[in-house]
Amino acid sequence: MSKNFKFITAEEAASHINHSDVVAFSGFTAAGCPKVVPTALAKRAEEFHKQGKEFKVGIFTGASTGDSLDGALARAKAIDFRAPYQSNRDMRNALNSGEIEYCDLHLSVLPQSLRNGFVKKPKFAILEVCDFNENGEVILTTGVGISPTISRLADYIILELNHAHPKELAGFHDIYEVENPPQRREIPIYQASDRIGTTTLKIDPKKIIGIVETDHADEVKGFTPVDEVTSKIGQNVADFLASELKLGKIPESFVPLQSGVGNIANALLASLGENPGIPAFEMYTEVIQDSVIKLMQQGRVKFASGCSLTVSNEVLQEIYSDLDFYRDKLVLRPQEISNNPGIVRRLGLISINTALEADIFGNVNSTHVLGGKMMNGIGGSGDFTRNSYFSIFTTPSTVKGGKISSIVPMVSHTDHSEHSVKVLITEHGVADLRGCSPHQRAELIIENCVAPEYKQLLWDYLKICRPGHTPINLGACFGMHRQFAKTGNMLDTKWEDYAD
Ligand code: COA
Repeated sequence: MSKNFKFITAEEAASHINHSDVVAFSGFTAAGCPKVVPTALAKRAEEFHKQGKEFKVGIFTGASTGDSLDGALARAKAIDFRAPYQSNRDMRNALNSGEIEYCDLHLSVLPQSLRNGFVKKPKFAILEVCDFNENGEVILTTGVGISPTISRLADYIILELNHAHPKELAGFHDIYEVENPPQRREIPIYQASDRIGTTTLKIDPKKIIGIVETDHADEVKGFTPVDEVTSKIGQNVADFLASELKLGKIPESFVPLQSGVGNIANALLASLGENPGIPAFEMYTEVIQDSVIKLMQQGRVKFASGCSLTVSNEVLQEIYSDLDFYRDKLVLRPQEISNNPGIVRRLGLISINTALEADIFGNVNSTHVLGGKMMNGIGGSGDFTRNSYFSIFTTPSTVKGGKISSIVPMVSHTDHSEHSVKVLITEHGVADLRGCSPHQRAELIIENCVAPEYKQLLWDYLKICRPGHTPINLGACFGMHRQFAKTGNMLDTKWEDYAD
């Protein structure tokens, strides 16, 4: 370790950051995010507020973060704007109440938006690392995110040297930043396992304000156990892919998979692993969750390229205790590369993401509860969906004890349009929407995916629609949402109350 670098406390590090500064962080999900400096920054904001002084900063991250970043700063009312993704309860409440301006962005796009000056320039980059040298070469930890771009753009850099991550993580990263147009060339990745960059991130040592030592574990929340519904969704996805393979619609050698975030995504990968009709496969994905590592241990996943190891601490320790097993099976890339639309199209990924809500035409809402309330954000789902070999969305057919049907006449917010969504899967079945017109899609979705108790309601909706390329009743298309707002149960909907 170099004597030229100054070791400082988290509080000293935070003391450099002032009201209205823009701060950008390493990591992706809670994996690889700084932990002690953001917590100290939250305390600094609270002290300013106690003195009646303003203190709010703008925050960029790779994706969501741990509670000691988004949670602590949101509770301290220390944020004025936030991008591009979050999944923290306190942050969610603050941005839904209008306290924080939130810009929900496709994750692959943020680095170039920063470079192009489309969004504010970060003054500080705070990076979690497990090692560094005096030339400014650092080894990131479990998430890469936007680190290459922010460390180049920021005026100042603070390193959190986290001893909870072994230095032997060196070699797992592949750091590469694209040129801006018109100099940009193709990104030379032709298979999920190709490496094109460096294992270290090179930063300008002169920008480093100091190094803060810590040993805080990543704050990845555990996954909920697989239940009957998620297991059935997983089986339906696996059976569908196995039959596509048999029909020759997927190449015999299979194509790499992308799988989304959250409990459902984690559960359905386990089902893919169990299906004997699916060969061992590769992943070119954004987050590598617990189930990918389990499948790797069983030889069912051959290789995983991702932006982060978003795994529970238990699984992370399994990886750390046998790093050599994983060394040729994992690579961590910046989100501009892990989610790059050109590579997604070239590799022919099958994308599998989770919908909060879908409509009978195949439009998908991944982000907003009942139209207005932000859940998390679009994340990388759009990067993959639009550009995939084909896209799959999964959702339980109902939520909140059956009072909400996840399938409605019209989504209350659109993230992925009917033009990009190719297959919809619930616990009841599969709607293969490829090549279908809107009314064919509506029939397939109602027949195959909707919960039995909601089927007649949706068939009846089609009967009150005006004819046209896309059947619609403008007065009633949000009738189920409006009914839920009135009585707390979509099943109470009577179309005559809403139809025009
Ligand atoms: N209306 C209201 N609430 C709904 C709903 C709907 N139509 N559908 C789901 N919900 C609620 C659930 O009931 C649950 O609420 P709870 O926390 O009070 O129990 C919550 O939304 C989350 O659902 P859960 O079943 O836990 O899903 P998940 O953990 O699999 O996450 C998403 C689902 C959609 C929130 C998550 O996948 C996401 O953020 N996606 C967008 C980003 C993305 O796709 N990234 C991947 C790209 S690589």
